[in-house]
Amino acid sequence: MSKISEFQQKVEAALKGKSYGAHPKELYEPIEYIMSLGGKRMRPVLVLMACDFFDGDVDKALHPSIAVELFHNFTLVHDDIMDKAPLRRGKQTVHEKWNDNIAILSGDAMMVRAYQELCKADPALLPRLLEIFSDTAAKVCEGQQLDMNYEKVQRVAIPNYIKMIELKTAVLLGGALKMGAIIGGAREEDAQRLYDFGKHIGVAFQLQDDILDVYADAEKFGKQKGGDIIANKKTYLLLKAMEMANTNRYLKEELDQWIAAPEFNAQEKVEAVTNIYNFLNVKELARTEMKKHYDSALACLKDIPVSDEKKKWLIAFADSLMVREV
Ligand code: IPE
Ligand code: IPE
Ligand code: MG
Ligand code: MG
Ligand code: MG
Repeated sequence: MSKISEFQQKVEAALKGKSYGAHPKELYEPIEYIMSLGGKRMRPVLVLMACDFFDGDVDKALHPSIAVELFHNFTLVHDDIMDKAPLRRGKQTVHEKWNDNIAILSGDAMMVRAYQELCKADPALLPRLLEIFSDTAAKVCEGQQLDMNYEKVQRVAIPNYIKMIELKTAVLLGGALKMGAIIGGAREEDAQRLYDFGKHIGVAFQLQDDILDVYADAEKFGKQKGGDIIANKKTYLLLKAMEMANTNRYLKEELDQWIAAPEFNAQEKVEAVTNIYNFLNVKELARTEMKKHYDSALACLKDIPVSDEKKKWLIAFADSLMVREV
């Protein structure tokens, strides 16, 4: 069995044994619900992989890894309110199944629970882990706010988009790895290298997420397809399309008109914008950008004094993200 599936099973088993509380049920049922819908569990697996990478005791990383998964799920519950998303992991989102207020509060409770899990870590390491975790969580909020700000502006420069996805998505992959590394006994500079590896992989991961939002196989995807187009999310695809449409008056007018439209038929908008993306072949450009960040990620592993055999697992993990379909 590969290390990745071994760690996935460890995380799954730890999550299965959890109960989040009973009363009032409106607070706790949504937590049970979202946590039981699965997901790839990649962030907790990264915590365990990083600990193992430095020959640490993986069991000592288990509570912190669950803290990271709880935090991630909390961000999803709130993200789905902000993105008005109807579907998550193939099922109704929490705010659709219950309502916005319930989704806000059960999200808050998940965040609290995440800190409680983290506090079960080795007391000697806890201050440092809290620092990394809190710094990461604050950055995710910054990224999420930028993501929403960018919905409302006409133009976003590509470097600003990259910075935004670094904050909303990539730092959590980096933070998960860094926490695992610290638990595994890594030197601070090596933990930082792993953080940087995770950050670059995270940027590639979000680029793929943006591609999947338009091009995923609807059966597998588990989220509303075209949600980013409907919400005018400034994704790499849209920003590239806008840039390229500048030399084609007809396309530019059509794209601008869909973005400015106060009311529209969602399906029509998704189809029209997707056609423009296809015409300009922006998906391929996004893939190229992903590859760039993937290469930067691998470069961060080079100077860590750990065997190639161990690096192989992290690279295999990165590879699996590059071709993911959900
Ligand atoms: C979704 O993350 C949110 C993003 C950062 C794109 P995942 O794709 O890891 O979601 P799950 O946990 O596997 O459902
Ligand atoms: C989500 O980005 C980032 C966080 C949840 C912090 P998206 O909004 O693209 O994620 P999905 O597509 O809803 O999973
Ligand atoms: Mg979303
Ligand atoms: Mg979002
Ligand atoms: Mg997305």
